[in-house]
Amino acid sequence: MSSLVENGERVTAPIYVYELPVRLWHWTVALAIAVLALSGWLIGNPPWAAIFGQPYDLHLMDDLRLAHYIAGYVLLVGLVGRAYWALVGNRYARAIFVPRVWSLRWWRALRKTIRWYLLMERETDKEVGHNPLAQVAMLVVFLFGSVFEVITGFALYGEGAGLHSWASRAFTSWVIPLFGSSQTVHTWHHLVMWYVLIFVIVHLYMVIREDIMSRQTMISTMVDGWRYFKDGRP
Ligand code: HEM
Ligand code: HEM
Repeated sequence: MSSLVENGERVTAPIYVYELPVRLWHWTVALAIAVLALSGWLIGNPPWAAIFGQPYDLHLMDDLRLAHYIAGYVLLVGLVGRAYWALVGNRYARAIFVPRVWSLRWWRALRKTIRWYLLMERETDKEVGHNPLAQVAMLVVFLFGSVFEVITGFALYGEGAGLHSWASRAFTSWVIPLFGSSQTVHTWHHLVMWYVLIFVIVHLYMVIREDIMSRQTMISTMVDGWRYFKDGRP
């Protein structure tokens, strides 16, 4: 039954929306992004050079870079696995990859969501999967941003890993010439972190706000997979 229900339909019974792989992916990637952003920011702005002693005794930068690279691999494997699940999972697993822009119902729901966020609607439609605005943000800001970070990150990683490493052959060989220099790749990799972090900040605000104000559950849905509707009305 769940796979037949669309946003805006008249539903009251709980619906199983996010399958286990999507939920595991969500929380693993959230942790990986937190580690990447914190370690990456400190790699770009190392504050302690002369505070805790000699850097060559402490290996702090080594540890930070190791944490960054481990989380980087987690993000890479996670994105590939998530793309696979979009192909084999339920319809809600595809939502962030393929917003239904060909459907008039989708555009109506998008307009209504924007008006709802601007406090111009008293209540929204019921949303079974992500609302259309969330889908667009997840694709254009989160997915495009993270894929860019993976490509530029592994291009930088390949420089250190050596000419014969897989990362150097797969990414460094064309990414550095494309941007012109390693420094330019560093700068873009750094800037796009903020692009991804803007998504995270707005996302946190939105899921908490919608958990309180919308007509369905939010945060618990990303924990147990089930969407519950708060009022008995269709
Ligand atoms: C770095 C941190 C985070 C990132 C990058 C992130 C990213 C995402 C992405 C990409 C999705 C879409 C999932 C899919 O369909 O595959 C999503 C959904 C969701 N996330 Fe997060 N998330 C983060 C943190 C959090 C946190 C801390 C919470 C809880 C407070 C949360 C709650 C949710 C919820 C409830 C949904 C489903 C929203 C809906 O049904 O429309 N996220 N998140
Ligand atoms: C959302 C994901 C990511 C974020 C937010 C992020 C963030 C950052 C930041 C802010 C820097 C410092 C750039 C500078 O100012 O020079 C950095 C450096 C770096 N990142 Fe990432 N990164 C991400 C993903 C990745 C991935 C997937 C890899 C692949 C292994 C990676 C590898 C690197 C490397 C090799 C450096 C340079 C380290 C150095 O110069 O010592 N990053 N990252």
